[in-house]
Parts: sequence; C-alpha cells; structure tokens
Amino acid sequence: MSTNTTNQPTLDPATALDDRFCAAIRAVVPDLPDDQVKAHIGPSRQPKFGDFQSNCAMPIAKRVGMKPRDLAAKIVEAIDVSGIAQPLTEESIAGPGFINISLLPKALGSALDAMDTDQLGITPPTAPKTIVVDVCGVNLAKQMHVGHLRSTVIGDAIARIQERLGHTVKRQSHVGDWGLPIAMVVEQLCVMEDAGTDLSSVTLAQLNSIYKVVQAKCKAETKALELITKVGGHIKAEIELTERITDANAAMERAKARLVALQSGDDRSVKMWQMIYDITMAACLATCQRLHANITDEHSAGESTYRDELGPLVQDLIDRKIAIEDDGALVVRCEGIKEPTIIRKRDGGFLYATTDLAAIKRRVEKLGGDEVVYCVDSRQGLHFKQVFAAAHKAGYDKTPSGKDAILVHAMFGTVLGEGNKPLKSRSGENLNLTDLLDEAVARASKAVAEKNPDMPESERSAISEAVAMAAIKYADLSTERIKDYVFSFDRMLAFEGDTGPYMLYAIARIKNMLGKADEKGVSVDAAKDASFSLDESAERALALMILRYPTIMHATGTHHEPHRLCGYLYELASLFAKFYEQCPVLKDGVEESTRDGRLRLSMLALRVLQDGCDTLGIPTVDRM
Ligand code: ARG
Repeated sequence: MSTNTTNQPTLDPATALDDRFCAAIRAVVPDLPDDQVKAHIGPSRQPKFGDFQSNCAMPIAKRVGMKPRDLAAKIVEAIDVSGIAQPLTEESIAGPGFINISLLPKALGSALDAMDTDQLGITPPTAPKTIVVDVCGVNLAKQMHVGHLRSTVIGDAIARIQERLGHTVKRQSHVGDWGLPIAMVVEQLCVMEDAGTDLSSVTLAQLNSIYKVVQAKCKAETKALELITKVGGHIKAEIELTERITDANAAMERAKARLVALQSGDDRSVKMWQMIYDITMAACLATCQRLHANITDEHSAGESTYRDELGPLVQDLIDRKIAIEDDGALVVRCEGIKEPTIIRKRDGGFLYATTDLAAIKRRVEKLGGDEVVYCVDSRQGLHFKQVFAAAHKAGYDKTPSGKDAILVHAMFGTVLGEGNKPLKSRSGENLNLTDLLDEAVARASKAVAEKNPDMPESERSAISEAVAMAAIKYADLSTERIKDYVFSFDRMLAFEGDTGPYMLYAIARIKNMLGKADEKGVSVDAAKDASFSLDESAERALALMILRYPTIMHATGTHHEPHRLCGYLYELASLFAKFYEQCPVLKDGVEESTRDGRLRLSMLALRVLQDGCDTLGIPTVDRM
C-alpha cells in the first residue's frame, strides 16, 4: 500500500518513490495481497551510496519464497524512477537485497524550490469537506480537570490540522449543562439563597464544592443498610443509616422536582442555571485561551441546546420502530453490539446517548458535516459505538447529498500520575487544571531565569508562560493519543529531548541566527533567491526531511493523530541541529553562495517548524 493517501501530486521524493516501488512490486508479484505491498523507503544508512534505500525485497521474498537479491533484481528491472532518481541497475542492489537510490542531481533543489511557497507544499484539497470536531466538553459547576486538558488540546489540534489541510472545520463543545446533576446544584443554590446567602460573587471553586456536597447528599446508601440488616449490625448504626437514606431520598425528590421546574422554564430555576453556566464557561473559556486553544463561546453547543429536540427525536424513533420498549425503558438495538442503547429511562428521563443522537443529527443535517470527529476519553468507547450505530440505523448520519457522514471516535487515553494511576490530587480528587498550569509556569520561569539571568522580568514571564503551555501541550500531543501517559513536569519541561521547550528552542535558535546575519550585514532577503546548498550529507538529510512535510501533514489529518506531526517536527529539529553543527553558515571563510544556500535552507526549515507548531496550537517564542 502506498503512503500517499491524498492522490495529489507530491513534492516529496520519498512519497513519489514509494508510489513507483509499489507499482513495480505489483507488476513483479501480481498476487501479493494489498497490505503486503510495501516499499519500505527510508533514508540511506550510508549516504555515500545514495539518498534513500528500499528494504522491500527481504520481507516480500520471504513471503513468496524467493531469494531477496533475485526479487530485488526483478523490481529494479521493472521500476520506472524517471524524473526522480538515477536509473536503478543491478549495481543499486547491496547486501542481502537493499536497493540504493540516488536522486537526480537537480531533483532535490527543484523540489525544495517548489515547496518554498506560502503553502509549504500543502495544496488545497480538490474536494474540501466540512468536518465537525467535538472538543472540550466541560461540565457545569465543575472545574476543568486533566481529562478536559486532552479533549481541549488534542481536539483543537485535530481541528487545526483539518483547517491547515484546507477543509471547513466546525468546533462543537458538548457542554454537560443539563440533567439531574445540574438540577441538584440549582436546587442547593435556591436553598442557600433562601437562607440568606449572597450569591452574587460565587466562584467556580465554590460551585465545584457545592456540586460534590449535593451529589453526596442525594446518594442513598441503601446497599449499606441492606447489608447491615442482613448481617445484623449495630442498631444505632442502622437507625443512623435509615435517617441518612430518608434525607437522601428527600433531597433527590427535591432535585427531581427542580429538574422539572427547570425544564418547564421556571424563572428562578432558569436564572440560577444561567448563573452557573456563566461562571463555569467564563472560567473554561479563559483556560482555553490560556492554552492557545481556539475554543470560544460560539463553539459551545451544550446538552441543554438539544432539550427541545429530544422528545420529537424519540418519537421519530418509536414511529419508525427503530426504538423498542424493553422492561419499561426505550432502547435501540444494533447489530454487533451486545448492549442496547437506552434512549429513555423507565421514569421517562432522557440520557447522555439521547442527546448525542440529536447532536449527530444536527451536526450532519444542519452543520453539514461530512465527517464528525469526537475527541473524547477512550472510556466512552462503548457509548460512541452505540450512538454511532443507532444514528446509522436511524439514518441520522445521512448528509443532505445522501451520503453517510463519517463518524469517528478519536479517543484518548488517561493521564497518569505516580504509580501509573490516573492523575489525582493528594486528597484523591481530580486535579484542577488551572493549578496544574500555574505550577508549570512557575517551574518554567525558574528554568528560563537560569538560562537568561539578565532577562527583564516582563519578558521572562511572557516567555515562561509560552514555554509552560508548549511543554504541557506538546507532552499531551506527542504521545499516541490512544495511549495513557505519565504526567511528569520534569520530563515535559526539559530543554533537551522530545519536548515542547526543545521545539521552541530550535525555532528561537534559527531566528537568532537570522538576526546575527543581519548584524553582520548579510542580507537574509537576498538569500531567499539563492540556490539551496545541498552538497553535504547533513544538508541533504535536512532537505529530504523538509520535503516530507506535506505527506506527514496529510497522514496526520487522515488518522487524526497529532503525534505524527510532533514526531516529524522533532526529527526535523534534530536534523537541523546536526546541520547547524556540521555546516557553518555565517563563519568567516564560508563562500557566499554556500552561505546564502544554507541560509535559505535554514529559513525554509524555520518556516516548516513554525507552521507545524502553529498547526498544533503550540505557542512559540523569539528567544528563550
Ligand atoms: N461532558 C462530557 C464529559 O465530561 C464530554 C462530552 C463529550 N462529547 C459528546 N458529544 N458526548 O465526559
């Protein structure tokens, strides 16, 4: 299978070679299953033998029972690499069957020339799509925790990547702002107000604790009582527990009554709800902004916005016999999924799944989504499987043009703390995101101060903020999103290695070099028209990596996997570091044409690094 998933012409010689090799393999071994047709093109391990090598012959030969060198000879005979590389011959085959490839002398330079435009080789799609991305999704009266860090940071990056590829993106934050839990908080606030509490300056932190208190208050410990009665516990404990359960049941009844009042638009309830909404969202959106996530008020589409759509939706499912009664509840059964999707409880209440069905309908029908991507915790895997299947069964995923929209759960793993357990505070509660960000900034500030003792305080604080956000975001984005990862300030804030600060440092270093050129009176502008300097192996390796950018961006978008882009940027930054070490640019004695050719290569590398960080939503700095 070819790595070129876009069917667009490519500037990247690696991708072009990949295509040609796959074609040759197919010609030589016509029966080979598609998933075995792999070109295995990589940078040459010994640059003196060429720019690339293909390692395809070994695995395929094994599979079809041939000698690898014989197969390599057949491939070399069949392949057409004209326009990209020097003709391949028997001489190109080495060792057990590696095929060495040297690009045409001018190929590298002209590919770089073609890429050196505003778009950096990423051309607009022939058929742009509308892609809805489910991001953030905080819950009312709760502070953001690390789970929402991921849905915000990865979700925003997924959205930005599609925008960069030229698609229309609509972000939707499915705020948990409706239902019994919120009604409980509303009820409690009413009780507090009745008792004379001034609610005008309530904070989110206070709402968060009220939330916890009322949740506990409404939770009846029926199971405990059953147990005590069964094993014959202490009579006093039994009485106490009975009282607690009576209280809890009463509190639950009040909350349910409040929910009914809220749903029917009761003035006071709605006002109280609005207050909770405003306080939560002000804090949430401020955090999004601080995280450089492009998530604002206009992207909020909370569960409450679907409230009038749920009744008709459920009725529609009943009418078309898609939903059926099951033990008093209403469910949709879908093939291949054991657990039925409950869309109405026995007591008549709607569920999380009901709202998500309405959301799919709106996103596809009204917002025009050809694709809906959900950046949500992997622990909601079953939920989305059920909801996607139910939506499909009901036809809610049909676009106006009659096609099925693509529904994707771009799931992410858990952020872990010590002992590989989900990251929690010392008291076992969810770690508050704001505290986490503050601590990262404090630590970054120390590191920046150590490196730049003379930097004025105001500059240092701006840089520390950016370094901290870059560190946290990069750590979150650079691990495969499906995997859990261990949160470590020390590791993510390191200036060396695969970290955010390293990326920022790489960018700052190139900017610094360009500034130095200016000071030396070397015109950076004039170098923009120079021929790239491509004689040294470090230059060629850097150039080849630069040319991979469009391919990587497309693959990142196809799979909604920002870690692919992070990995690429890290490799690019590392190759730049090698180039910078081995190929002097501004040193006296470097020939003018070489100097300008290297300056131009550096500028192109800088633009790719910068564009990559922008596309991931990672803030950068001019110096650090
Ligand atoms: N509010 C949910 C939570 O915190 C996330 C919402 C995800 N999006 C969705 N369409 N269900 O778990």
